[in-house]
Amino acid sequence: MTWYVRRASLRDRDALVKLCTVSVGPDDYVVHFLDDMILKEVVNVALGGDGRAIGMMAYRRCVDGAAWLGQARTHPDFRRQGVARALVDSFVGLARASGVPALRLWSESTNQEAIASFTGCGFKEIARFARVVGPSARGKAKAAPRTFDEDLWRQIAGSTIVARGRGYVSHDWTFVPATRPVAFVLVSQGLFRAWDGNLFTIARPSGDLEQAFAFTMWSGRPSELLSEACRQAAMVGRAHVETFLPHDRDLLAEARRAGFEPGSWGREAIFCELPVTAATFTRRVRPTYGELAGQRGQGHGHGDALGWARWNG
Ligand SMILES: CC(C)(COP(=O)(O)OP(=O)(O)OC[C@H]1O[C@@H](n2cnc3c(N)ncnc32)[C@H](O)[C@@H]1OP(=O)(O)O)[C@@H](O)C(=O)NCCC(=O)NCCS
Repeated sequence: MTWYVRRASLRDRDALVKLCTVSVGPDDYVVHFLDDMILKEVVNVALGGDGRAIGMMAYRRCVDGAAWLGQARTHPDFRRQGVARALVDSFVGLARASGVPALRLWSESTNQEAIASFTGCGFKEIARFARVVGPSARGKAKAAPRTFDEDLWRQIAGSTIVARGRGYVSHDWTFVPATRPVAFVLVSQGLFRAWDGNLFTIARPSGDLEQAFAFTMWSGRPSELLSEACRQAAMVGRAHVETFLPHDRDLLAEARRAGFEPGSWGREAIFCELPVTAATFTRRVRPTYGELAGQRGQGHGHGDALGWARWNG
């Protein structure tokens, strides 16, 4: 079986809708985001010999400079033939060329095919998270925006919540390391909120009131953080609140007590990473025969005005 991988454009939209429908079902959520993904992320498509789309995967940058892979779909007739592996490889190449140090993704613990495929590609589990969803609640919000200082960093570095996520937290539908630079970036985006030893981030504001209010606990008392998030959600007109918690019995019990329930997806998200070694490109110093011919005005010249001078100057 032969196929090749290239970047998808909006022209591939219908073919990708078909692929999602046959891979996951007519209600695959990816269909609703395809246009945005194609325009704002890198979506690669694997094409079979007849030009049919048989696989896809999306790539986008995380706030810490790593990249996030998602929306892997392989046509059921072409599974276990290395299609997802070829798509991952295409992104390893992209990451290497652009100095991206790691690729990350998550998969449901129940998705055996995905786990087998990604571990087969070299991804290693880092931590498990659970997505929980709760109702918003009226009441006076307590938290205020928080700026960056060493106290903030000390609080994060000593956080038992962060430790339970093996040093990672959720942000913008990815997981990122809770490092000083990441905290600094999120502070500069105005996303940290704090009060009385409690610290959390909110998602970047979106105008869509149908969406749940997404937040991440960074440090403090989980029960207070969860209740505060419900109040903050009500304040901005959202009916629901959601977060990824480290998959920890005590934290999940706290969430249940605060009125949160496991989400319909992301109940046990296995978060994985694949380190990428940076490429060391050497600059080409010799011209090709085509370039030499172009310089002399013979053969298949490119009309390159610089010609030989480009390589000697
Ligand atoms: C997950 C999915 C994208 C994998 O795609 P795929 O093209 O079949 O995966 P690949 O063939 O590239 O897998 C590479 C390796 O993973 C392993 N693997 C993949 N599927 C496997 C399975 N069902 N059982 C055991 N190992 C498996 C193998 O090691 C395989 O290499 P090998 O066949 O040479 O041994 C595909 O099953 C799919 O579209 N599932 C539905 C959508 C989905 O769940 N997406 C993932 C969301 S995180």
